[in-house]
Amino acid sequence: MICKPDAVERGLAGEILARIEAKGLRLAAAELRVIEPDVAELHYAEHRGQPFFDGLVKFISRSPSLVMVVEGPEDTWRIVRSLMGVTNPADAAPGTIRGDLATMTSENLVHGSDGPDSARREIALFFPTLR
Ligand code: CMP
Repeated sequence: MICKPDAVERGLAGEILARIEAKGLRLAAAELRVIEPDVAELHYAEHRGQPFFDGLVKFISRSPSLVMVVEGPEDTWRIVRSLMGVTNPADAAPGTIRGDLATMTSENLVHGSDGPDSARREIALFFPTLR
């Protein structure tokens, strides 16, 4: 999971992490870091070619993100995604992170892996020494 630059800039990283922890999930690793454009392009490789790709890379690398590994029961990625709410904050349900705290798809506060394969790939990209 990533608290994106807008979350850190707005001072919402603590609020977001509090929701993850209150749910019963645990932090296994975390780093406050600027996601450089080359890493952002790898992370978002599946979106290459989309009209929003260049803006997305620019946004995610503009200031530090809180990059995290969250652990819990099987399919923890699904629990994290449900806490996040859907991609467009205008459609995200109240009670979710995006539904409560965001207004724009381009600055939607958080990223969560969308399955076990992407979780493995993203953990390897951001925390290569974690085992
Ligand atoms: P995320 O879950 O990080 O995965 C891809 C990101 O691309 C998504 O959240 C949004 O921040 C961004 N995104 C998706 N669709 C659009 C769009 N139409 N315009 C701008 N950004 C988008």
